[in-house]
Amino acid sequence: MNLLDLSVNIGGLKLKNPIMNASGCFDPEQMYRVQGMDLSRLGAIVTKGTTLEPRPGNPQPRIWETPSGMINFIGLENPGVEALINDKLPFMSQFGIPIIVNVSGFTLNEYVQMAQRLDEVSYVSGLEINISCPNVEGGRIPFGSDVQIAANVVRAVRQATKLPLIVKLTPNVTDIVPIAKAVVEAGADVISMINTVRSVFDHKGKIVQGGLSGPAIKPIARCLINQVVQAVSVPIIGMGGISTLQDIFEFFQVGASAVAIGTANFRNPLVLMELLDQLEKYCLEHGLANIDQVKAKIKGGKA
Ligand SMILES: Cc1cc2nc3c(=O)[nH]c(=O)nc-3n(C[C@H](O)[C@H](O)[C@H](O)COP(=O)(O)O)c2cc1C
Repeated sequence: MNLLDLSVNIGGLKLKNPIMNASGCFDPEQMYRVQGMDLSRLGAIVTKGTTLEPRPGNPQPRIWETPSGMINFIGLENPGVEALINDKLPFMSQFGIPIIVNVSGFTLNEYVQMAQRLDEVSYVSGLEINISCPNVEGGRIPFGSDVQIAANVVRAVRQATKLPLIVKLTPNVTDIVPIAKAVVEAGADVISMINTVRSVFDHKGKIVQGGLSGPAIKPIARCLINQVVQAVSVPIIGMGGISTLQDIFEFFQVGASAVAIGTANFRNPLVLMELLDQLEKYCLEHGLANIDQVKAKIKGGKA
């Protein structure tokens, strides 16, 4: 009999454990076919950022290594929502774990159309609304950097779907707390944070703007989660530089209910499985039966 129960319930999503991939950093099909990864072990699969229409993404270089992270300038390359539904989701659905579709839009109406469409698809367990995208009808200012605009998108999506709604916040704001409060008031069931931190790299004499991720942003992510957790009552999926079990504990410490692993997958494609193994081993070695007990132990300062 398996006495270890690592499940967490976040905003109506029941996950068998609190560890999932972060959007855009993990190709489940490749991991399954090339690495033989047992995807059924994950808490959830989060899809790559999906837009209404297919997008070719930005020209190369799209990824730039920095001393403690990387800057990406991918530009949301993806085949569009219909191709996701027809070509990708059926594969992902065979593992019996929740599938969270990361939705990106450039107008409010695009978010709404995608939410309505995905609401009809039985494979989809929840939506993660990426509000870091530029609002082309609003001077290209990201939806997530304005309290009112962020709330409007979430309210509109909330009306378009009954699926659990995760809203992914950008750290590129002066004060994240009013935005977190506004999206929760507008209907977010869960907050995920953080998206990448605005930054630049130089290429052939040009300055290219992208998003920084990886270990460099872990203290920023923890700081912002710590602020948001005190301001809202919904669960938080924490991400930003996690690559070790200790990192996961540090996110639990600031109040995350679950965690997502992004950039670390590029360095070690098996990191998700290794972290799951380590979490299970840690629980068994310390006689812990569930995540609440893990958190209690960490808070007690004995992790
Ligand atoms: C190459 C790359 C692509 C990403 N694509 C998306 C995306 O499509 N949608 C999204 O919401 N976040 C995207 N992100 C952000 C990550 O999901 C995550 O929020 C961020 O990288 C912080 O976590 P990490 O430090 O573990 O990577 C991307 C990040 C990287 C590095």
